Order: sequence, then structure tokens, then C-alpha cells
Amino acid sequence: MTLLDGKGLSKTIKAEIANEVERLVASGGKRPHLAAVLVGDDPASHVYVRNKVRSCEQSGFESTLVQKPDDISEEELLRVIDGLNRDEDIDGFIVQLPLPKHIDAEKVTLAIDHRKDVDGFHPMNFGRMALGLSSYVPATPLGILTLLERHGVETSGKSCAVIGRSNIVGTPISILLSRKAKIGNATVTLLHSRSQNADEILAASDIIVAAIGIPNYVKAHMVKEGAVIVDVGINRVDDASAKRGYRLVGDVDFEAVKDKCSCITPVPGGVGPMTVTALLMNTLRAAKEEIYH
Ligand code: GUN
Repeated sequence: MTLLDGKGLSKTIKAEIANEVERLVASGGKRPHLAAVLVGDDPASHVYVRNKVRSCEQSGFESTLVQKPDDISEEELLRVIDGLNRDEDIDGFIVQLPLPKHIDAEKVTLAIDHRKDVDGFHPMNFGRMALGLSSYVPATPLGILTLLERHGVETSGKSCAVIGRSNIVGTPISILLSRKAKIGNATVTLLHSRSQNADEILAASDIIVAAIGIPNYVKAHMVKEGAVIVDVGINRVDDASAKRGYRLVGDVDFEAVKDKCSCITPVPGGVGPMTVTALLMNTLRAAKEEIYH
């Protein structure tokens, strides 16, 4: 079994990006600038955003963190977004999800200028992605594609089961893996809570992408001998022996499947770091105005 090491690859790509940034700046170009809007005090969101800001520093980007309290009004948040849309120094920005319940996340996503939507959540980007046009691709799916590509995993003609149909991961990765593209051309089944015979479909799949947020959901009987497994789950489970009182586990029962699959992403250190790196890749494209001129 080979570990699909997202942590190591992420380091390599961040160094490549840092080199490109220095070349860009040396030739009179602009240093990429990412802003992140963080609302409230969800602990996981704080960790994710902190990682994004730290990664910006590692790659020589400028970064701006806009932190707002949980009780910010929707109107005020939309004003913050309008300010970031207009700020010429900022190439791209994200609004960390989830947002408090009184704020309409869809309205917020629509308010982001699609040219700065480095999360790829705006319908303009999502639609262009689905049509196979150039667009910002959401960070987790882009991170997964990059991980598969750099590890030389063949997807063309393979059967692939994606578990979970979220807008952020399951739905976009199912579209991307079935597109006519270098990492694509797979025959994709999107499994969700109403799917029947999910276990059988999984057990017949060459590639599994697990993105449902249920700890250790994928067991050995659901995995074909030699399958490629991408575990998107980052679940906190109580663990009194851990320093923080919890540990992170994926959506895949790693110990149960590790001897059956040909390669697998670890949790932590697999998809997670690649997500952050993919956001930097998108922000670099924004700074270079590669997609929207
Ligand atoms: N929450 C969980 N994943 C993401 C992500 O990729 N982007 C944003 N903005 N929020 C998230």
C-alpha cells in the first residue's frame, strides 16, 4: 500500500509557488494577496483559516484576515464583501463556512465578485467548471486532482464512487472526475443518503472518494482489492489520551482497509494540506489574471 502523502506534496508545491512568486515580483509583477473572512468562533474554522494564513506566508503571499463576531448582521457582512470586491490590492478572498444560521450563505456567495472567488463557490465558477471551461475549481476537489496527478494515479476509464453530495466536495469532484480531462474520464457514481446498494457499488469501484463526515464509515468489505482511496473526512473524536482531548479521524477506517487498497490518503496529512495548497494555486492564478482578464 502506498500513502498518498498530501503533507509532503503540499510542501513541494508551496515551495514551487514561492519560487514563482519571487520571479513574478522580481519582474515587476504583483505579490498575490489573499483575504479570508472568518465569522464567529467555530474552533475548526479558526484552525482552517489559521492554516490558510500561515500557508500564504510560506509562499510569499500577502494575507489579510477579517474577523467578525458571531452576531454580525447579514447586511454588515455583505458590506465587508463589497469592500473586498472593490479593494484593488486583494486578488482573491474567501468567506469561511459554515456561517451563523441568521446569515444566508447563498446570498453571501453570490455577493463575491466571481473574479475574486478563489473558493470557486460562485455559480459563475461552478457553472464554468461543470461546462469544462476555465474557472476557479473549489479547493478540496482541486487538491484531490493534484494529489492524484502528482502521484501518477490513473483515473481514465476507471470506476469511481464518490460518497457525499456536498456543494464543496462531493458534487464538484464527481463532475471533475467524469470530465474529459487529464485527471478525469472516470465512470463516476455519486452515492448519498438515499443510495441503495452503496456497499456493493463501493466494493466494485477502482477509486473511492469519501466525503460524508462520518468517522470510519468505509470498512474493509466496501473496498475492492487494489482500490485507490481518497479520504476527505476530518472528524474530531473524543480521545482522553490525546493532548487536546480529541483526535482526527477520516471517513475511512484506515486500519481496516490499509492492507486491501493500493493507495490511500492518511488523515491527517492527506487531503487537508492539499486543500490549503489548492487555495494558494487559485490565488496565484487570480494574481496573474489567468482566468478573468
Ligand atoms: N469550510 C469547509 N471547507 C471550506 C472551504 O474550502 N472554503 C470555505 N470558505 N469554507 C470551508
